[in-house]
Amino acid sequence: MTEKTVTRASAPCEVPEAEIDAQFRYAAAVAAIHEKNGETGDAAPRCFIQTFGCQQNEADSERIAGLAVLMGYRLTDTPEGARLILVNTCAVRDHAEKKALSIIGQYKHVKDADPSAVIGIGGCMVTQEHRAEQLKHSYPYVSFIFDTGAVHTLPELVYGALTGGGRSFSLSGSSNIAEGLPTVRASSHSAWLSVMYGCNNYCTYCIVPYVRGRERSRTPEAILEEARQLIDTGAKDITLLGQNVNSYGRDLGGGTDFASLIGTLARLDGDFRLRFMTSHPKDVFDALVDTIAREEKIVRHFHLPLQSGSDRILEKMNRRYTREKYLGIVRRLRERIPDISLTTDLIVGFPGETEEDFEATMDMVRRVRWDAVFSFIYSPRRGTPAAEMPDPVPHAVSTERFARLLEEQNAISLEQNRRFEGRAVRALVEGVSRGDAGRLTARSDSPRPIHFAGDPALIGRFVTLRITRAETFSLDAELVPDGETE
Ligand code: SAH
Ligand code: SF4
Ligand code: F3S
Repeated sequence: MTEKTVTRASAPCEVPEAEIDAQFRYAAAVAAIHEKNGETGDAAPRCFIQTFGCQQNEADSERIAGLAVLMGYRLTDTPEGARLILVNTCAVRDHAEKKALSIIGQYKHVKDADPSAVIGIGGCMVTQEHRAEQLKHSYPYVSFIFDTGAVHTLPELVYGALTGGGRSFSLSGSSNIAEGLPTVRASSHSAWLSVMYGCNNYCTYCIVPYVRGRERSRTPEAILEEARQLIDTGAKDITLLGQNVNSYGRDLGGGTDFASLIGTLARLDGDFRLRFMTSHPKDVFDALVDTIAREEKIVRHFHLPLQSGSDRILEKMNRRYTREKYLGIVRRLRERIPDISLTTDLIVGFPGETEEDFEATMDMVRRVRWDAVFSFIYSPRRGTPAAEMPDPVPHAVSTERFARLLEEQNAISLEQNRRFEGRAVRALVEGVSRGDAGRLTARSDSPRPIHFAGDPALIGRFVTLRITRAETFSLDAELVPDGETE
């Protein structure tokens, strides 16, 4: 477990230090309860954390895990026998919510088997009033919810649940940044580093601004300190996180922006590389492109969600750019960084999307030739403007368009991946290959995982790999022994 020291320079909307201290005292009180029951060391109660959704939630779950350990729990990877179950939910599409609700439903048997088990539900789904109410009324074995602004209050909630404080289902309404929380990181060599929280963009289909609050940037000092700690403790691949990292610093005043932040981070000592996500096309400035071109430690990969190739739909989505503007950014990126990998997100079946609008998206697929596309069928989100828009696209039509998009993109992905064949690339070995226990998986600048035969002792180290064969979703390679690269 790595514990962060509280930084002195505070952002405009930070949780006061006294409040964090109070939560640390609750955590100590929970740990004392376990100790009194003789539940320490091997006998420590188990905590199971389940995470849905994006990298932001994964990063939050690392803080949730840090707090659980502080409260005297031991982390486990199965819900059976766990005394504390925490589910970190997502609300971005209906499917994500359905999956979370169905899994929460299954935890009733854990509570039946051990009535002292505590179940808490956090994340974006429960940050909506109607879901908080639903959990309160239809899931009586759930003890509490914690919304996205209340992660730091977990110790108080768990303490309340263990000491007969009753169930707690109110939303905190808070969107302050909690600095100084302990973390347990899922990987020792790859790390998330949140640089900002929330989103101000209000794309008309998206629930995120409602469940993650307004944009708040962490101070450069707090980010730099965490980055140094990560590097000192062995992180080799650091992903800077925010819903729209390009607007980093706007709320801080004082001229700090994302280009200068990532430029500063890239000049820290150590053998590591930096990734970042997500960027919004309306805010991509030349300074950022120039910084990526200049700084070797920044990975040559840019994830730039387009969402739709039709200007008419982009306007209805409130995206505030046109396809021409997007193509201009792509041109600029490829001019300055010729071999950059580009990826995007696309939504199919937004209300009112005609065949012509969809063809405009397909046209962008052919023009841009992204390395990879993450495509989604539009899912109406309660409380968002798009959910009220006329002319919903019938599901059968969306599904058919989605399939056409995938087919065309898969062929392009394979062609794009082929440009790596024969090349030697520097890659970080991430772990044992999921599909083949005899092989390892590594990552370079390409978003595709690279599979190769190697000694598991290489996990967490940079190696040179020669790409032998491109597949649609991955690359095959062989290890180049040290000193044999050109
Ligand atoms: N902040 C990021 C990511 C937001 S969520 C960004 O701006 O790109 C990740 C992706 O989910 C989005 O890019 C979008 O493609 C998709 N998405 C968001 N809301 C959706 C909805 N209601 N239905 C379908 N896809 C959605
Ligand atoms: Fe959602 Fe748009 Fe914000 Fe991304 S930029 S999180 S899609 S509102
Ligand atoms: Fe889902 Fe919340 Fe992320 S809605 S995609 S977990 S910001």
